[in-house]
Amino acid sequence: MAKSSASFACQACGAVHSKWSGRCDACGGWNTIVEEGVGPPLGGDGRKRARGRQFALEDLKTDDEHPPRRATGIGEFDRVCGGGVVPGSALLVGGDPGIGKSTLILQAMAAYAKAGGRAVYISGEEAMAQVRLRAARMELAEAPVALGSATCVEDILATLEAGPPPGIVAIDSILTIWTSALEAAPGTIAQVRTASFDLVRYAKSTGAAVILVGHVTKDGQIAGPKAVEHLVDAVLYFEGERGHHFRLLRAVKNRFGPTDEIGVFEMTGKGLAEVPNPSALFLGDRSSLSPGTAVFAGIEGTRPLLMEIQALVAATGYGTPRRAVVGWDTGRLAMILAVLDARGGLGLSGHDVYLNVAGGLRIGEPAADLAAAAALISSIHGRALPKDSVFFGEISLSGDIRPAPQAELRLREAAKLGFSRAIVPAGTKMDGGGMRLSEVVDIAELLTLIGHPRAVPGRARMES
Ligand code: TYD
Ligand code: MG
Repeated sequence: MAKSSASFACQACGAVHSKWSGRCDACGGWNTIVEEGVGPPLGGDGRKRARGRQFALEDLKTDDEHPPRRATGIGEFDRVCGGGVVPGSALLVGGDPGIGKSTLILQAMAAYAKAGGRAVYISGEEAMAQVRLRAARMELAEAPVALGSATCVEDILATLEAGPPPGIVAIDSILTIWTSALEAAPGTIAQVRTASFDLVRYAKSTGAAVILVGHVTKDGQIAGPKAVEHLVDAVLYFEGERGHHFRLLRAVKNRFGPTDEIGVFEMTGKGLAEVPNPSALFLGDRSSLSPGTAVFAGIEGTRPLLMEIQALVAATGYGTPRRAVVGWDTGRLAMILAVLDARGGLGLSGHDVYLNVAGGLRIGEPAADLAAAAALISSIHGRALPKDSVFFGEISLSGDIRPAPQAELRLREAAKLGFSRAIVPAGTKMDGGGMRLSEVVDIAELLTLIGHPRAVPGRARMES
């Protein structure tokens, strides 16, 4: 019997199935399975394989200290890459449609070209005229970027191989690129995987750095994620809230540099502007402080970042109390509320609780617990926290405040931005710097310190 020449791949997770079904067994997604043609069989079907060629095995030792870098000149972009893109590497830049990926990449390519590098920008989504219009609006039309509009990977490779070797090639976006070797439609997992593989191989064999632009699906995954993420050396996400004017570039995987590094940009009419001092941007106007706001001295990647946490506690109108969180983890809020109840005597079962991280940021650090608790207490109490204070520290279920890493870095950033006092876990040290440290051991001490009328000093320890 002839073997079926079709296979079915899930477009969300990349799992391959032998027959179509409405739901993918691997990831549980509905309507994500699409029929894709398969290439010629790679052995395993009884046919004789070609005999492999030998290759030399070598030492781990190397004389090269660091991989050389190609800086684009956009400082925030280079830093997230670990100091510039590495020759021969492939980089995936993902983000929601319309977030500004094409703008960022065009700016990076223009900056690189202006500095004397050979930058090639291949647009698969926009026509040449559209890219030129964008460049004109951003006043980059004079930059010597080699621009092309193509979607077939064979055409792209033939064009690249015919010209002088590029330093950086950007492909915007990988979802539009297809190879004539496959019958599947462009944008399917098989096409994206094969085209990406060809481009990555091109990077490795010529030393050009390849930047692939991708899209993120609604649930936050780069479309065709499994297909591309493991092929590339670094994955950067470009993110931000639509209504806000700043954007974050975040490294989530980087074989040649730190992950969790962020770059901050501000959107302007002329493209993205770098924000070298993001704390000031996220804090906003602090001349009048209302109850329920606390400043968290956080760390994003290797950089300290001050963020404002806002809380609102209001009596529930009817039914089940609401808990709504923007920019933080809902489970974490539930935990803080439980600890405030059990260890601090602040029962909020009859109250709605809202928590928001200002500026559309998202906090992942547990060290934000103390600031969130302070914001909640301040809102319950209706009294603003002292406006010269920052908070950080993790809260444990016992109500104890646990130390946070890189305390010194957080405190220096706070001092730089004019704060003079920090409410911190016990044992936090700072050499000089002019910050007054108020150490808190547990939730009860926090309540006493920020002057909550119902605070009962020592109660937490009596109960636990
Ligand atoms: P675009 O770069 O096309 O987004 P993506 O490639 O991620 O889909 O940007 C979307 C729109 O926003 C586009 O019309 C240009 C506009 N924009 C600005 O006007 N200023 C900016 O700084 C940025 C980043 C975008
Ligand atoms: Mg785009």
